Amino acid sequence: MTSPTTAPGLEGVIAGSTRLSRVNGLAGELIIAGYALEEIAANASFEETTFLLWNDHLPNAAQLADFQSRLAGLRTLPAATLDLLRAVAAEKTPPMDALRMAAGTLSLNSVEGAENEAAALVARFPTVVAAYWRLLNRAEPVPPDPQLGHAANYLYMLNGQRPTSAQTRGVETYLNTVIDHSFNASTFTARVITSTASDLVSAITGAVGALKGPLHGGAPGPALDMVFEIGQTERAESYLRAKLERGERLMGFGHRVYKVRDPRADVLSAAAEVMYRAGGDLQLYDLARAVEQIAVALLTEYKPGRNLQTNVEFYTALLLHGLGLETALFTPTFAVGRVAGWTAHCLEQRAEGRLIRPSSDYHGGLGRVWADVTARGG
Ligand code: ACO
Repeated sequence: MTSPTTAPGLEGVIAGSTRLSRVNGLAGELIIAGYALEEIAANASFEETTFLLWNDHLPNAAQLADFQSRLAGLRTLPAATLDLLRAVAAEKTPPMDALRMAAGTLSLNSVEGAENEAAALVARFPTVVAAYWRLLNRAEPVPPDPQLGHAANYLYMLNGQRPTSAQTRGVETYLNTVIDHSFNASTFTARVITSTASDLVSAITGAVGALKGPLHGGAPGPALDMVFEIGQTERAESYLRAKLERGERLMGFGHRVYKVRDPRADVLSAAAEVMYRAGGDLQLYDLARAVEQIAVALLTEYKPGRNLQTNVEFYTALLLHGLGLETALFTPTFAVGRVAGWTAHCLEQRAEGRLIRPSSDYHGGLGRVWADVTARGG
């Protein structure tokens, strides 16, 4: 019998409290440590937003300079991490799997203590992703440049060229936009692991595994593929209708909490528009806008009452594509941003010190009687 407190998928359950971010799914609002997302995403540097999450206030100029050089000083990977990435690239392993494997090595080089672990993880995630991407493409990794900020350095390590200020702003806005989102699946995973008094590297490695799934962080690649396959606005309706008729999900739409348009989609579509208007493939941007409108209308027709709206992944795809990133890099780049939120949640969970251990409803058999293996029949 189902108990009255059972909530499949923990839907609607308040599983803890946090000062880090608040998601209002009915109003379409996201608050990051007291600031509306729209207030912070396109203004702050990634270092400022990370500092804000960890310390609950924005840094002053001296604190910011200090924090930037602390992260810059931690960017270089342990030699064993690079060796691992070389071996994994030889197997052509997908980047999210490589990131998961490498994440587990990031406690090397005597990084001890939760705060130092957090800083090393945030500082090194871009280095792992960029180094792996280059190795996968038969190029040598580009060492981090301590003169560059976190976001610019990520693009630099990927491409070997210093990004323009517009590109830096684009990636910075993206990383800020996905930095934290209350108790989503990967963050909750990290908190559960931390709640056992385990270390941050273990918690973040688990979170990477949770983010990888297509129902969570793995959607933007397929969302962009869909736009490319559609190719022209006139084909959008028949293409999307056929997908829905086959019972397939449209990637980049729907959300467990948001029942209106995801506010992150607005921030990212505005950032993408600025970038595409400044010299990108504006036709692609216009096609994506048209696909979005038709998709939302068809989702209303096929799933009435479900309020399936555009989520963060749709415009993630467009923005990151405009920055020259290939689809296989979309989810790892999400992790480069979200790792700051994960670590902030781990630190908060450690301070709370309460083991997370829900109960379950048992629906298996009862009263079975042991039989020896020889007496169990075929
Ligand atoms: N396309 C088509 N139908 C959908 C979609 C979609 N994108 N999303 C939900 N539905 C349908 C379901 O099939 C279901 O229909 P039914 O009741 O007729 O069976 C109904 O809407 C409710 O779906 P649930 O799975 O119960 O909703 P849930 O809250 O679990 O889903 C989720 C949230 C997983 C994000 C879902 O909307 C989805 O799969 N979206 C596509 C993948 C995606 O974009 N993921 C990224 C999410 S954002 C993030 O994690 C960073």
